[in-house]
Amino acid sequence: MKKIILLPLILLFVCHSGFSQQVELPTDYLSAEFHRGRRDALRKLLPPNTVAVLFANPVRNRANDVDYVYHQDPDFYYLTGYNEPNAVLLLFSEPQQDGQGNSFDEIIFVQPRDPYSEMWNGRRLGVEGVKQQLGFSQVYENTDFKDFNMNFGSFDKVYFYDFHNDVRDSKRNTGDLYDLIAGFKQKANYPSDYDASKYQVYDIIRSTDIENKANVAQEIGRITRFNPALNDDPIVLRYKDAGNEHALKKVQEEVPHSNLDGYSLNYMMANLREGKLPEELKLLKKAVEISCVGQIEVMKAMHPGMSESEIQGIHEFVFKKYGAEYEGYPSIVGSGHNGCILHYIENNRPEVGGDLVLMDLGAEYHGYTADVTRTIPADGTFTPEQKAIYDLVYEAQEAAFKECRVGNPFWAPHRAAQKVIDEGLARLGIIKPGQRHNYFPHGTSHYLGLDVHDKGTRGAFKPNTVITVEPGIYIPHNSDCDPKWWGIAVRIEDDVLITEEGWVNLSAMAPRKSEEIEALMAQPSALDDFKLPDLE
Ligand code: GLY
Ligand code: MN
Ligand code: MN
Repeated sequence: MKKIILLPLILLFVCHSGFSQQVELPTDYLSAEFHRGRRDALRKLLPPNTVAVLFANPVRNRANDVDYVYHQDPDFYYLTGYNEPNAVLLLFSEPQQDGQGNSFDEIIFVQPRDPYSEMWNGRRLGVEGVKQQLGFSQVYENTDFKDFNMNFGSFDKVYFYDFHNDVRDSKRNTGDLYDLIAGFKQKANYPSDYDASKYQVYDIIRSTDIENKANVAQEIGRITRFNPALNDDPIVLRYKDAGNEHALKKVQEEVPHSNLDGYSLNYMMANLREGKLPEELKLLKKAVEISCVGQIEVMKAMHPGMSESEIQGIHEFVFKKYGAEYEGYPSIVGSGHNGCILHYIENNRPEVGGDLVLMDLGAEYHGYTADVTRTIPADGTFTPEQKAIYDLVYEAQEAAFKECRVGNPFWAPHRAAQKVIDEGLARLGIIKPGQRHNYFPHGTSHYLGLDVHDKGTRGAFKPNTVITVEPGIYIPHNSDCDPKWWGIAVRIEDDVLITEEGWVNLSAMAPRKSEEIEALMAQPSALDDFKLPDLE
């Protein structure tokens, strides 16, 4: 009886709560509980008396008054589920007290509701929506961050990602990302010369025992590879030149110190994101399946008169048909020599002709992206040379799969694939035995998840990790081998889940064997009868 009375009351509340625009949305997004659990997991990684500060991704301008489609920063999405710009999350290692004696261990500042902006640029959750839908209790409008009383200096560490110089100030919006970052810098006494890798080196110099100077030098060498200017930093030079214990100690005492840490958060997030939870795997598997169906449909529809962009369009049409929001990365459709360009995204060759077509495409479904490559002969039949290279890449991939085991080093699949390719290229006479070559110029695996090149530690494989296994051989024109091989480019890329029980090829649905591909390509396609009018 009570239930019958409650239902109309609930509906009344929903309709009058100021969040009344009920829209039909998919129901399989990650839950508020998932995101809360991930915040709790990050909190557990924070040392005592520290805070992590994470900003939403910037809006990026495409041209004039048109912006790129907004994409949230994957860490921010992972921790919050919030898909809008101009927001900042503060996550504390221990509960904090506000002026009214309230206790909280996280705060989020988000875009306010704004009917005018929403009419032009889309719906916003606003403070109430973030409370109700994402399950935060401490939610404020982003314009409140400026006056938010927070003494970042009182924390032992303030973790954040250092800033890129790619954030525009929208003068009309006083709570945009530009202002949030400015507010943070001011509250946190962000040094004008702050550079995350420089302070990482400083921290290493200060905190490492003098007898371990060799280790410090190695670490500095690793960091300066990404920031060569650090080699000329006066502190680094003094440390390197210090000839005795006394001189080293003096450098350690004088090295600048800041409680700002712009480098460690990445390690923490890599640890969290490397192993996938069941909710994530569900979405990731769906993204991969969608991408496989795209590959299958293209295999049936392919003919030599197609353009690269038309092939891309069929894939992406299939993605959208299944509700995938985006491509996880710009689609790569490279025929013939274009396949040798590893991240070829122009896709503008008018006819693929009789060449191999390398198709590296991944649907993004609710944030999770697939990354699947198939390479197929446009006319449906591999030439002997194409088949020889294709089958060699297949053999390399099979060898790499076997190395996808919990506890194995991250690089084990790559080493296995490289060995097969080196030996096979020599067998085919493309290289001499033992000769170094550049026909396989990339790694075999990367993590896969919210990012196509997802975060991970690159340590031994952990359970529930998803990686790609993607060996390839690329033989550009004018290579130092028989010209019959020129213009052949093959990559086969699958998405592999590593569990305690073994590995699972999530993209097995899309044929990989050369014979299976030829058989599928011989089948008719629904698109065979799809004709459009010729235009002048
Ligand atoms: N699609 C980019 C990659 O395979 O890494
Ligand atoms: Mn990949
Ligand atoms: Mn790929």
